[in-house]
Amino acid sequence: MSTLVCGDCNEGMARMRSGSVDIIFTDPPYIKNLYAEAYQVLARHAGRLLVPGGYLVSYCPQFHLPVILRILDGSGLAYFWLCAQLNSGAKTIVWSRNAMCGWKPVVIYQKPPVTAPNQIFIDVLRGVRAKAFHPWQQSIHETLHLLSRLAAPGALVLDPYAGTGTNLIAAQLLGMNYHGFEIDPATYRIAQDRLTQRPLDLAVYSEATT
Ligand SMILES: C[S@@+](CC[C@H](N)C(=O)[O-])C[C@H]1O[C@@H](n2cnc3c(N)ncnc32)[C@H](O)[C@@H]1O
Repeated sequence: MSTLVCGDCNEGMARMRSGSVDIIFTDPPYIKNLYAEAYQVLARHAGRLLVPGGYLVSYCPQFHLPVILRILDGSGLAYFWLCAQLNSGAKTIVWSRNAMCGWKPVVIYQKPPVTAPNQIFIDVLRGVRAKAFHPWQQSIHETLHLLSRLAAPGALVLDPYAGTGTNLIAAQLLGMNYHGFEIDPATYRIAQDRLTQRPLDLAVYSEATT
């Protein structure tokens, strides 16, 4: 069964059953000075919730990667891989480094035992710019690629920081179940709308237009 809850993921994940999640796929909020808290919450719950061999996949801000890796190293999960999501469209400049950001890190950890997924994944991911629903929205292409390689249809995908629901929609498209949390009611409603969208019923559409 798939659900999206409007609420705080720290409280929500504490109520979830141990070993009930096949893969956590998420994009935590990046709020200056507060970003670490979101990864600490992930580190607190991921080890208990994941099945053995289950993956945690998370977008990370490039600037704070060392701190985030230290937090996740303390989660009981094992470092697995680092992927690069190539940025399309306008590129942000981090002026304190004079660095123009051409890619965003996506880290993968695994709950031991460390095992290879059944299918090969590529670690350089290219999506398209997708900001129609929210400035923080990610494109679905990277998620579809990694999720389809790291989990199987029927798996339970958890996104604690669901935003507009991109990762949950990918799970739905791949025949997986999902559980999501989103704390902001307006963003939660956008995600709900996106998740309940159905392809146009062409039979009904053609009747209505002929
Ligand atoms: C970077 S955005 C995710 C965007 C998402 N990848 C998409 O494509 O729309 C992070 C989201 O986490 C939500 N959030 C922040 N703190 C939260 C918390 N404690 N529990 C649940 N959601 C939270 C924010 O409201 C925001 O929508």
